Amino acid sequence: MTPTEKIWHNGRFIPWEDATIHVLSHVVNYGSSVFEGIRCYSTPGGPAIFRLREHVRRMVDSAKIYRMELPFTADQLAEAMLELVRVNKMDSCYLRPIALRGYGEIGVHAVKNPIEIYIACWNWGKYLGEEALAEGVDVCVSSWTRFAPNTLPALAKAGANYMNSQLMKMEAVINGYVEGIALDTNGYVSEGSGENIFLVRDGRIHTPPLGASVLPGITRDAILTLARELDIPLVETIVPREMLYIADEVFFSGTAAEITPIRSIDRITIGKGRRGPVAERLQKEFFAIVEGKRPDRFGWLSPVNVRQPVAAQ
Ligand SMILES: Cc1ncc(COP(=O)(O)O)c(C=O)c1O
Repeated sequence: MTPTEKIWHNGRFIPWEDATIHVLSHVVNYGSSVFEGIRCYSTPGGPAIFRLREHVRRMVDSAKIYRMELPFTADQLAEAMLELVRVNKMDSCYLRPIALRGYGEIGVHAVKNPIEIYIACWNWGKYLGEEALAEGVDVCVSSWTRFAPNTLPALAKAGANYMNSQLMKMEAVINGYVEGIALDTNGYVSEGSGENIFLVRDGRIHTPPLGASVLPGITRDAILTLARELDIPLVETIVPREMLYIADEVFFSGTAAEITPIRSIDRITIGKGRRGPVAERLQKEFFAIVEGKRPDRFGWLSPVNVRQPVAAQ
């Protein structure tokens, strides 16, 4: 990670190296944070943040689920992110807003500890590798299950959830795979450690519903929209594990992974063992929009250098 100049903290820009917290902050001990991962793309009209409002909304939702009162409104947070990209003079970047329970009480019940919000941004390339988007990746079904309903809330993007993701990812990489796919507590397909998942069979896209312990991905939602527009049938439905193996195509979606084809699962070749036509079509549309090569017909981009109220875009 290459540092940028400034990080936003509770309404002020501070130097990157000053964005530190006490080791006894609640979040360090108990994972009590909610956060987002957002991409800002380079477009001919300058940098533009992808689905800024939707990301801020999910962060506000995550905070609500965890009874965290954020000291800033959604509009203020969105504006802070646009300003951060301007201040750091980035052309494209990844943004990481995080709200955390800070220093004070050390017991689990520390609702009076301050809620601190930080927003950082930095340059980040392709998450699963440059080739992955064209060639596809080799993945496995994880031996780790995604959290059961009513344990850790899957709809919240909270720090603690990523202990489960770390177990999945570490196991996958140690065993020679790029990523792991978790099943839910009923044994149905859930999602990757940091991605939603889609499969294609006979021209129809299938993706697990929100009830399968998945994060409501914002890229997932973009794919639902694109598929509808491109007249590709899509169902949100329970997916048995073995459907993955016999699919014509499987692919991940996520802010980091964007749309990444999967060419093998548990060493079983998926389809023809390379990116399939549906993933390619969706990628083409997706990148044309986010890179500003085609009109932003869904209002997904917030241009950084155009100063206007985010809510009014
Ligand atoms: C567990 C998990 N699922 C899915 C996603 C994809 O969500 P999004 O498209 O909003 O990045 C992510 C990444 O944020 C994730 O961490």
